[in-house]
Amino acid sequence: MRRLSTGVPELDKLIAGGIPEGFFVALTGEPGTGKTILCMHFVSQGLRGEEGCIYVTTEEDRSSIINQAEQFNLGFGDGLKKGRLIIIDALTGSGDWSIDTLDIEKLVSKIIEAKKALGYGHARLVIDSLSAFWLDKPSMARRYSYSIKRILSKWNLTILATSQYAITTADAFGFGVEHIADGIIRFRRVVRGGILRRYIIVEKMRQTPHSLYMYEVTIVDGKGLTLLRPTAARVEDIAIPENVKDMVRRSHERTGYEVA
Ligand SMILES: Nc1ncnc2c1ncn2[C@@H]1O[C@H](COP(=O)(O)OP(=O)(O)OP(=O)(O)O)[C@@H](O)[C@H]1O
Ligand SMILES: [Mg+2]
Repeated sequence: MRRLSTGVPELDKLIAGGIPEGFFVALTGEPGTGKTILCMHFVSQGLRGEEGCIYVTTEEDRSSIINQAEQFNLGFGDGLKKGRLIIIDALTGSGDWSIDTLDIEKLVSKIIEAKKALGYGHARLVIDSLSAFWLDKPSMARRYSYSIKRILSKWNLTILATSQYAITTADAFGFGVEHIADGIIRFRRVVRGGILRRYIIVEKMRQTPHSLYMYEVTIVDGKGLTLLRPTAARVEDIAIPENVKDMVRRSHERTGYEVA
């Protein structure tokens, strides 16, 4: 089995060398925890190996993605120039590579068009975020994830898809992608001692003897995301306390709105 480096060597070590080729891996977690930056490392690693890469962005426009990647010297400008990287802008819908609505069928056909443009061989695909496609219909999460995985499985792609979490309840927006995904890399954050700390844990990676430890993550200007040490914290240590969750649930029942 070929495993693809994520572009973050310490993370590769946690998953027996990398992500198995052809896998569909979900990156889930709260805002600002490093999901997008990990996606960028994954693409950068592909570009280094002369692989084709497709980056679908729903939350930031194309230039924001390019600027952020350049802050970490991830070679996006060069990849675009050489035609090895295609960024599909699903936020503004502008430029040659874009979609104008968050529609799953449009997304899939645009990805296939991009894959054909990149040519024969394996390519890396990032969908950042996938949950944006079902924000107003969370019950569709599972069906959409399944259909994306099924259709794209014929196209020689290894896929990273991000999914956001409702901050208060720590429930995934539209629970569903987790079961369909071959792997789940979960990002977390906590403020401790007045400092924002970020963590990463591999919750699932099929066909892989992966680490069960949670690692602290750091994001460094000019370099990007790296892993620090495994943490002794238990899941309960960084989870939202039950009484707070209860308050949120009650308020949700009263108002009918998700409190995020
Ligand atoms: N040049 C930089 N140097 C250091 N840290 C940075 C730099 N650029 C961004 N960051 C950090 O990375 C964070 C953004 O990470 P990222 O975009 O990967 O989050 P995310 O998990 O994708 O969040 P969201 O769900 O909102 O998209 C910023 O909030 C900041 O803390
Ligand atoms: Mg992001």
